[in-house]
Amino acid sequence: MKNKISIEWYDEIDSTNTEMQRKIDALENFSVIAAVNQTAGRGQRGNTWHVQEGKNLTFSLFLKFQPGELEAADNFLLSEAAALAMLDYLRGEGVECKIKWPNDIYYKNKKICGMLIENTISERNISNSIIGIGLNVNQKDFPAGLVNPISMSQITNKAYSLKEELVKLCRCLSSRLTLPFGEGMANEYEECLYRKDEFHEYSDCASGKPFVGKIIGVSTDGKLCVETEKGEVRRFAFKEISYII
Ligand code: BTN
Repeated sequence: MKNKISIEWYDEIDSTNTEMQRKIDALENFSVIAAVNQTAGRGQRGNTWHVQEGKNLTFSLFLKFQPGELEAADNFLLSEAAALAMLDYLRGEGVECKIKWPNDIYYKNKKICGMLIENTISERNISNSIIGIGLNVNQKDFPAGLVNPISMSQITNKAYSLKEELVKLCRCLSSRLTLPFGEGMANEYEECLYRKDEFHEYSDCASGKPFVGKIIGVSTDGKLCVETEKGEVRRFAFKEISYII
């Protein structure tokens, strides 16, 4: 059955994820809060998410789960489903992208979309999830200092209606994020990984040492599996490895 999605647009808000946290008790499953402008957008690793006002999509999707529906240990499934939904949407717009583990979306070597997923855990189950998404849509110039940004418009030379694109994107999110998740989802996610099966440079965050490795997949608990040149397989959790691009 299709989820009914309700989208609430704000002209300006600090962060759509933060607004969802404030309203969490009143939110229905599959509510979306979107903002024309975010004044304190939050990114991964405690970073700020900067956007040019009115140019990009910044929104959060709220998912509610029944007790026993989704174990906390399976939280990576949400990253997989959301990232694949983004690829479905972008492919539909003629933009072929890859997933940079865990859930950045890359066009060639540039970042077009980032996600901040915040889950509430209750007795080893996920009771709800806020999936915050920032997608670069119409922005043409990015401030120096942002790492490798690119927008849909820079790729296709089109100008998009943010409201129309959000409706299309929510349809993709709804079909990927409805339980039960598809059986082949983990394989599909792996096949869409940026740099899969190629040797590239990485840095081990604990030692600060660079090394060359090949991404071979992701473990069920969401760790990135990288084979070194010596054939050793190393597993990295988020923040334990950084890509040298
Ligand atoms: C990243 O660092 O790549 C994650 C960026 C996530 C940004 C989105 S924009 C909408 C939502 N609200 C926020 O404050 N952050 C997320």
